[in-house]
Amino acid sequence: MITAASYIHAQLPHTLQAQESATAYAPANIALSKYWGKRDKALNLPDNSSVSLSLGQLGTHTRIEFSQTGSDALYLNHEAVAPESQFSQQLWQFVGYFRRQQALPLCINTYNSIPTAAGLASSASGYAALTLALNRFFQLNLSEAQLSAIARLGSGSACRSLWHGFVHWQKGVAADGSDSIAHVLENHWETLCIALVDIDFSEKAISSRNGMLHTKQTSPLYPAWPMQAEKDCQTLIEAIKAKDFEQLGTTAEANALLMHATMLAARPALRYLQAQSLVALDKIAQLRADGVGAYATIDAGPNLKILYLAQDKASISQAFPNAIHIAPFAPDAVTTQAIQY
Ligand code: PMV
Repeated sequence: MITAASYIHAQLPHTLQAQESATAYAPANIALSKYWGKRDKALNLPDNSSVSLSLGQLGTHTRIEFSQTGSDALYLNHEAVAPESQFSQQLWQFVGYFRRQQALPLCINTYNSIPTAAGLASSASGYAALTLALNRFFQLNLSEAQLSAIARLGSGSACRSLWHGFVHWQKGVAADGSDSIAHVLENHWETLCIALVDIDFSEKAISSRNGMLHTKQTSPLYPAWPMQAEKDCQTLIEAIKAKDFEQLGTTAEANALLMHATMLAARPALRYLQAQSLVALDKIAQLRADGVGAYATIDAGPNLKILYLAQDKASISQAFPNAIHIAPFAPDAVTTQAIQY
């Protein structure tokens, strides 16, 4: 059986040559058509492909260096992380796939530029930045495909966080997941914007990992999901190429609602949406009725992300005064944080 550990071991040299320190940055990403269900739990292999939009300067910065104290240390947003926390345990397990038996105590500093109030998970940018930093720290020279496959083992959606702009994660068919990797779509869409609407940013009760599993195991609607999600992914790629905003927005919103409908049908129901999420969806429908191009997408939580074109920013701000606005293709969003492999 192939495991995350055995897959990563197979990509590495026998002995690691470490630098003094290494840093990396990876942006957060929002799926326009979602990943929700796995064909392989250990390797995070999805039942369907997905396509995402990266959030420019909102993401994770990670720095790795040798530990001065002789034991591992982890800091998140400048604060020491308790070794027994789940965050710490998962991160060191991932680092252990690289270190194997070598005694290399490390100090890892990770910083999220995503405002907590944005209600966004940071595991995608976190594992992407960690993978890039490990690649540099151990001078591995891994290819983009290898890096994407390895980031996926930390968190599925992390395989899409290695690039700016639109990214396509192809589900792949290989048992070891070597073809379940993402690649960047070279399409720029300068006027496309995204607004993050916070409904409730307290930590979710059920992780994506457990939520996906439960939905696949118990929702009678699940069999329809991967088929439609695969079609939505293709439709979105066409909409991106044609810069067809209506096609992009309607498909992204329908895909998100289909994912939530599939979760709601799980037994017991898995409900991330809150009353205020539905109120916000109504507002967005009203904006459209008033001639404003606005479409929503929602991940495994109650918060909304609104897709809109730059010309409509004032109308979106008026309807959602606290929203955080991002222009993912603005020159400062993509050039100041050039991603290096
Ligand atoms: O990568 P994970 O395990 O955090 O799952 C991500 C799940 C969604 O955000 C809901 C969808 C997606 O494709 O990003």
